[in-house]
Amino acid sequence: MTKLTEPRVLLEIPVEGNNFAAAGEAASRVKKTLQKLGVDSTLIRRVSIATYEAEMNIVIHADYGKIVLQVDAKGVTVQAKDHGRGIPDLNKAMTVGFSTASERVRAMGFGAGMGLPNIKKCTDQLEIETKVNVGTKVVMKFKYPSTTQ
Ligand SMILES: Nc1ncnc2c1ncn2[C@@H]1O[C@H](COP(=O)(O)OP(=O)(O)OP(=O)(O)O)[C@@H](O)[C@H]1O
Ligand SMILES: [Mg+2]
Repeated sequence: MTKLTEPRVLLEIPVEGNNFAAAGEAASRVKKTLQKLGVDSTLIRRVSIATYEAEMNIVIHADYGKIVLQVDAKGVTVQAKDHGRGIPDLNKAMTVGFSTASERVRAMGFGAGMGLPNIKKCTDQLEIETKVNVGTKVVMKFKYPSTTQ
């Protein structure tokens, strides 16, 4: 793949709360960008799943935000930052099956309480900062497989 030494922001994509028509676009652009760079396909799969879940969490649970894709010599970083209600109890939110999604959102097939646990599974490093009535920042780090270093 393309040799990268300096950290580089490749994408910064706005995500609108409650806009289900555009939902998934940011994750799809992240995927395409990493494919163009020649990143390992197994890694791209993990990044795409985690980014999609983080993007959907902005659409469903926040007012607005953005997805930022950054790459450096060690791997890929995706940040999902939003302005919104924040998460009052992060441990609870990380639990499989916990969801505050509305009936309307559940009827669309979301709200299983699987997104954050899935993100945890897909990432090598996960940091979440959140403040009630301010917003949430999810930082997801993925290392390149050692064989391609
Ligand atoms: N960006 C966010 N802003 C505010 N609350 C959030 C955010 N992301 C997650 N949460 C809270 O954490 C809970 C668990 O999130 P998680 O993604 O695991 O499940 P979900 O979004 O409810 O359902 P699923 O992801 O399976 O469709 C959410 O129901 C919500 O209460
Ligand atoms: Mg979710």
